[in-house]
Amino acid sequence: MHFTTALSVLSMLASVEAAETVLGAYIFHRHGDRTPKSLAPTNLTTLGYEQVYASGQYYRSRYLTGSSKIRGINKDTVKLSQLSVTAPVDNVLQNSAMGFLQGLYPPVGQTIQALANGNEVQAPMDGYQLIPVNTLATGAGSEDAGWLQDATTCYNAKISSNSYFTSTEYTNLLNSTKDFYAALVPVVNGTFNEKDVTYKNAYIVYDLINVAEIHNTSIPSSDVLTNSTLFQTRTLADAHEWGLAYNETDQMRSISGMQLAGEILKYMNSTITSGKAGLSSNKFGIQFGAYATFFSFFGLASLQKANPDFMGVPDYASSMALELFTNADLSGGYPSNDDLQVRFLFHNGTASNSSEPVVYPLFGGSANSVSWTDFSNGLSQFAVSTTEAWCHKCGNSTGTCAAYATGGNDNPSTTQNSNGGGHHMSAAIGGVIGAFVTLAVVLGSLLAIMLLGGFRLVSKKTLAGRGSPVSETGVKA
Ligand SMILES: *[C@@H]1O[C@H](CO)[C@@H](O)[C@H](O)[C@H]1NC(C)=O
Ligand SMILES: *[C@@H]1O[C@H](CO)[C@@H](O)[C@H](O)[C@H]1NC(C)=O
Ligand SMILES: *[C@@H]1O[C@H](CO)[C@@H](O)[C@H](O)[C@H]1NC(C)=O
Ligand SMILES: *[C@@H]1O[C@H](CO)[C@@H](O)[C@H](O)[C@H]1NC(C)=O
Ligand SMILES: *[C@@H]1O[C@H](CO)[C@@H](O)[C@H](O)[C@H]1NC(C)=O
Ligand SMILES: *[C@@H]1O[C@H](CO)[C@@H](O)[C@H](O)[C@H]1NC(C)=O
Ligand SMILES: *[C@@H]1O[C@H](CO)[C@@H](O)[C@H](O)[C@H]1NC(C)=O
Ligand SMILES: *[C@@H]1O[C@H](CO)[C@@H](O)[C@H](O)[C@H]1NC(C)=O
Ligand SMILES: *[C@@H]1O[C@H](CO)[C@@H](O)[C@H](O)[C@H]1NC(C)=O
Ligand SMILES: *[C@@H]1O[C@H](CO)[C@@H](O)[C@H](O)[C@H]1NC(C)=O
Repeated sequence: MHFTTALSVLSMLASVEAAETVLGAYIFHRHGDRTPKSLAPTNLTTLGYEQVYASGQYYRSRYLTGSSKIRGINKDTVKLSQLSVTAPVDNVLQNSAMGFLQGLYPPVGQTIQALANGNEVQAPMDGYQLIPVNTLATGAGSEDAGWLQDATTCYNAKISSNSYFTSTEYTNLLNSTKDFYAALVPVVNGTFNEKDVTYKNAYIVYDLINVAEIHNTSIPSSDVLTNSTLFQTRTLADAHEWGLAYNETDQMRSISGMQLAGEILKYMNSTITSGKAGLSSNKFGIQFGAYATFFSFFGLASLQKANPDFMGVPDYASSMALELFTNADLSGGYPSNDDLQVRFLFHNGTASNSSEPVVYPLFGGSANSVSWTDFSNGLSQFAVSTTEAWCHKCGNSTGTCAAYATGGNDNPSTTQNSNGGGHHMSAAIGGVIGAFVTLAVVLGSLLAIMLLGGFRLVSKKTLAGRGSPVSETGVKA
């Protein structure tokens, strides 16, 4: 009895498996190998180009030609309305997106166009396909920024993130790793001042060494860099960046993950809406971005509960994918919302046929997929999809945000804008100095307000109603 039940369940599973149809996907992708942040301008390397190209080839075989092919998507000749490709204004990220697209939609071969005058023209570069990479308003200069929040203008996120530098986690590590970093000085003193080689700069120190391990044939005092030292530089950098990007009890610092969630929701919603309308558009979203956004999103979606490895900085050319799929019979038209499901996949580093993305449960659960309703509800818990919501969350009320400003204001210093972001401090410490300057300015102005206006340190909860969708990300740059 049990046996037959098990068998029929198995065969049901098998037939369900066979009936699965992928209806859309959204990929968030890290750039490929690059030069170090500390030697800006940062560039995508040949190795990095090769990595994102290979990843594009993999996703081509997954979503355009293979068994997980997105229903109705063009296989060889791109149809622009089916895609949305975005990246911040950042050379490394923009170029990574283009390299990926070259692998996704390779040249179609010689195409010849006949003109009215009888002449014929031939497409350049063997029919190379031109696919625009649209810019995102936030994240500009991500890869040149030493401090991850330099890529946002969200006021409250910076304050939240900066508070990491006063947390006990941080101060303890800063103290306990003094000797460890002191030993690294001879390796990196060509780039950093001795006093800056501490846990305070954990990521950029790691970044410089990591790049050198990949590219430099000789490294000064490389005998210091044993496997265990290298491992420790990396894990300390992980702890540092995770602390800046996510905090369970103070999630404001994860603004980039909130915006990504908003973009994913909006795009996948448009996949469903256009599918129901019988249109063949909005099937595949592709966004390139920085590890900080991965981290914020991972934290918000509780992926670190599925696997603590999500608290480690993803390797170059890593990708996460959200697949919208159904097991319903499609002969009766587009499935209803109840029949739509979403799964989350991640691949650390370049995905390939021999090393494919793996499914992880979202939202701290255990299921390998969730219904569309649960997915959109789950993401909506933290997604920021409109400029208005962004302005309220960030406590910004000037510039683009002036239109949404109500009487009160969470941001005590709407006129200051000198957080060091625009200066060209030579070494990578620029970011963290910026962070501290911002903190000092914030503390200073809080003090001023307390002195001038009495104690009003209460964070004002915004009661913003949901506005109509505005621009595709929170801010207009
Ligand atoms: C990146 O490329 C620019 C030229 O495009 C060059 O000036 C710069 O030094 C390069 N950066 C690194 C770190 O190699
Ligand atoms: C997270 O936030 C809480 C509350 O604000 C704070 O006590 C804690 O130190 C923070 N942890 C980190 C790592 O920033
Ligand atoms: C710093 O670390 C040392 C050991 O590495 C310890 O003896 C000392 O008490 C620590 N200081 C603080 C302020 O935590
Ligand atoms: C770096 O440190 C080593 C060892 O202490 C020293 O010999 C070298 O001169 C230093 N280099 C620079 C640029 O300060
Ligand atoms: C690696 O080589 C680059 C370019 O020659 C140099 O700027 C950088 O300081 C080197 N890194 C290390 C850690 O030696
Ligand atoms: C260090 O790691 C590398 C690569 O992971 C490995 O080839 C090498 O054997 C390791 N060395 C030691 C001493 O463990
Ligand atoms: C999805 O699109 C529909 C129709 O345009 C809209 O009513 C709904 O609010 C959207 N949902 C989300 C989560 O964006
Ligand atoms: C990805 O790999 C890095 C090491 O290269 C590791 O620190 C990180 O935890 C890994 N992330 C995941 C999700 O496996
Ligand atoms: C990956 O596998 C697909 C078939 O599943 C095949 O078409 C494609 O050529 C393979 N890609 C590479 C790079 O081997
Ligand atoms: C938000 O406020 C901060 C601090 O006042 C400012 O630097 C930033 O430019 C503002 N962002 C926008 C989009 O107005």
